[in-house]
Amino acid sequence: PPALTAIQEEILALKKERNAVILAHNYQIESIQQVADYVGDSLGLSYQAQAAEADVILFCGVHFMAETAKIVNPGRTVLLPDLDAGCSLSDSCPADRLAAYKAEHPEVYVVAYINCSAGVKALSDVICTSGNAMKIVNQVPADRPILFVPDQNLGQWVSQQTGRTMQLWPGSCYAHVQFTTAAIEKIRLQFPDAPVVAHPECVQAVRDLADEVCSTELMVKFAKETPAERIIVVTESGMLHRLQKDVPHKTFIAGPTNTCACNDCRFMKMNTIEKVRDALKNMAPAIDVPESVRTAALTPIQRMLDWSK
Ligand code: 13P
Ligand code: SF4
Repeated sequence: PPALTAIQEEILALKKERNAVILAHNYQIESIQQVADYVGDSLGLSYQAQAAEADVILFCGVHFMAETAKIVNPGRTVLLPDLDAGCSLSDSCPADRLAAYKAEHPEVYVVAYINCSAGVKALSDVICTSGNAMKIVNQVPADRPILFVPDQNLGQWVSQQTGRTMQLWPGSCYAHVQFTTAAIEKIRLQFPDAPVVAHPECVQAVRDLADEVCSTELMVKFAKETPAERIIVVTESGMLHRLQKDVPHKTFIAGPTNTCACNDCRFMKMNTIEKVRDALKNMAPAIDVPESVRTAALTPIQRMLDWSK
């Protein structure tokens, strides 16, 4: 393993002092991934958060992820390095608009992608992630019409995979919709032997040209199993660190957009190594969820964790 910097050493010492566990999403910068106890996708992080026994969970990801950790494990102090680390997808479905829709369509069964606020989770019947969406949708009672929120791209993909018709909330991830077929076709010409793996938040045209569409964690599995030596990775750029660490002998090529050689999520990148240190030092910013919202949001999350086993 690479030698740690002074600030990383400081974080590890503070982590011990505070009895903290550091959970990091695959999109975090490399120096944060290096000090984390666990690095993974939204699904793996949810299980880790629920099982955490440390006094403090320092969640290096975006707000809805830290909020989910607090919902499933309220006895811990949950810290997020930057409270402004939000998510455009989560923002595209405000709880009051979902409540208004449900009032007009009381028969709908709401399947919510985990990229949403606690308020939206509290109004949902079951949660899913990109890693278990098919499994979850397949278990929704057949006589209920499904409303899928907030990602129309993931929703459309799951609907195509399961054959289940769903009403789709018109939300999307600002970062993943920047990938275009033109940009991916161009890099494919440069690396004709490299399969393309894409996140389901990408638009349909991009998903259609990919060899594999999956969650960030399943990308690691794909990279290990494919005979290919080089892989084009169409998702947020932090993923490349995770892949390179777990599959060091292969080459990973960042999927480009029309304007950029790789693609950062500006929210994920708000967390810096300094902010991680400061969060442990100051025991702030901490995530709080009102108890009534928390208990209402826990029901569909727990349903997901049970259905997903
Ligand atoms: P994963 O659960 O696949 O890691 O996705 C999380 C996310 O925010 C994708 O943009
Ligand atoms: Fe949200 Fe997209 Fe960033 Fe994921 S990559 S946290 S969906 S804005």
